[in-house]
Formats: sequence, structure tokens, C-alpha cells
Amino acid sequence: MQTKVISLFDNIWQDYLSLTPSAKSICELLGSGNDVINDHVAYRTFNHDKLNIEKLASQLLALGYKECGQYTFEQKKLVAKHYEHQDSTLPKVFISELLVEEFSEEVQAIINRIVNSISPASISADNFLFSGRTWKLSSDDYNTLLKESEYAAWLAVWGYRANHFTVSINHLDNFETIETVNQTLKDAGYKLNSNGGEIKGDKALMLEQSSTMADSIEVDFTDKTLLIPSCFYEFARRYPMANGVLYSGFVAASADKIFESTNKSN
Ligand code: NI
Repeated sequence: MQTKVISLFDNIWQDYLSLTPSAKSICELLGSGNDVINDHVAYRTFNHDKLNIEKLASQLLALGYKECGQYTFEQKKLVAKHYEHQDSTLPKVFISELLVEEFSEEVQAIINRIVNSISPASISADNFLFSGRTWKLSSDDYNTLLKESEYAAWLAVWGYRANHFTVSINHLDNFETIETVNQTLKDAGYKLNSNGGEIKGDKALMLEQSSTMADSIEVDFTDKTLLIPSCFYEFARRYPMANGVLYSGFVAASADKIFESTNKSN
């Protein structure tokens, strides 16, 4: 089982790097060439029975993951859960889902067309979590989604793959604080997400997070090619709870701002 779960995350990482070239160089910069431990990997989906949070998580549960926390993002019309493995070197997995029924009929129709195009067999296949987009999309549909939900537009373009990986600062040899990580990234020319401040959370919340703004990749729509934000890289430092164990949950107010790392940056 261990080999299987490691190989799954290897595949997810390779797929993510193909859309996030900055992550490879940042990983080398922060890890000084050593392996970097991931705090978590994040997924986006729709709340359709066919591929909601539980569906995506079923493959993880079979590999030893357990559900550990639930979160609500009212303004973005999302809910989320996070999953942990008893092997703490394996990343936590944060899966959110869009509450599709809360959007306009126009948006729902586009989403339903996408969901209907995905076969149940492909959802249960071993490669689903790094299968990407398997449907056609027009730039008009993308822009219709974008007007109501950046999240929906991102998911429609990129499909089922990691939205971001997250470096565990606690496990880095050469960095202690999130401030020094951020400064090192900015000095190297990377753009950080400053929505809500560069550092989300604090020691009192037991979790500090920052992230790059997503890379941009050319996407072929049915009618044209456009440069679209792909995936970003996140950085997390965790603090111990009263019992001395590192806090392993998430902070909804911080995650809310991290979602905005895939907004188009100027
Ligand atoms: Ni995250």
C-alpha cells in the first residue's frame, strides 16, 4: 500500500510540474537540492454525486487516509474536507467542492455538461487524480464561468489534478520562518499572493501560510488559445497545540484567501 500511495503522489507531482514550472525551481531553491516534504496537496471539484469530495477521497481512503476536518466558504460557495495519513511524511489532502446549485442556470448548464462528459469508469480509475481535463471547452464558456466563480473557471480548464502542492516549512533544513521563505522567493523574482496580506494566519491560529500567484500557461480552447493561470505553490508553517503536537487542521479564513492564488494577476 505504501508503494502505491507514494507512486500516486509522484504521478500527481509530475503532472503538477508540467503546468507549474516555477514549482520545480522553487522546490530546488527551498530544499537546497534535497527532497521537500509536502504539508498538503489541494483539489477542487463540483458537489455532483458523481465526483464530489467523497468520490475523490475514496481512492485516498483505500490507501489509508482518514477524514479529519470540515470547512465552509460561504462567499465562494464552497465546502471542503481534509484528509490525513498516519504516515506524517505523506501530504495531507485538502478537497473542496463548489455548491453548483447556488449559481446561475447558465453556469450550472456548463458544469453539468462537463460532469456528464466524464465516465464513471474514468472517475474510479487509478489515474483520475492526475487525469486533467478530458472535455472540450470554449473560451465563451470559460468566461461565463469566470464571471461568477474563478474556482469554477479554473476547474473547467484544468480538470482533475492538484491545484497546488504545499511545502512544509517545518521540514526545511535551511529555513525556520515563513518570513524568510517569502523574502527568499521575492528576491528570486517570484510573485506572492498578497490578498489578505502575504502571510495568512499566525502563531495563535497555529498555522501560517503563503503562496505564489499561479503560473500562466497557454490553453487551447475550442475557438482560440489564451494564456490562463494554472497552478501555484504554497508554503505552510505549523505550530504545536497545547499538547505539544503540531496543529494539523486548516484555517478557513486563510484558505479563503489562498484560493485567490489562481486569480489572473496583473
Ligand atoms: Ni493549501
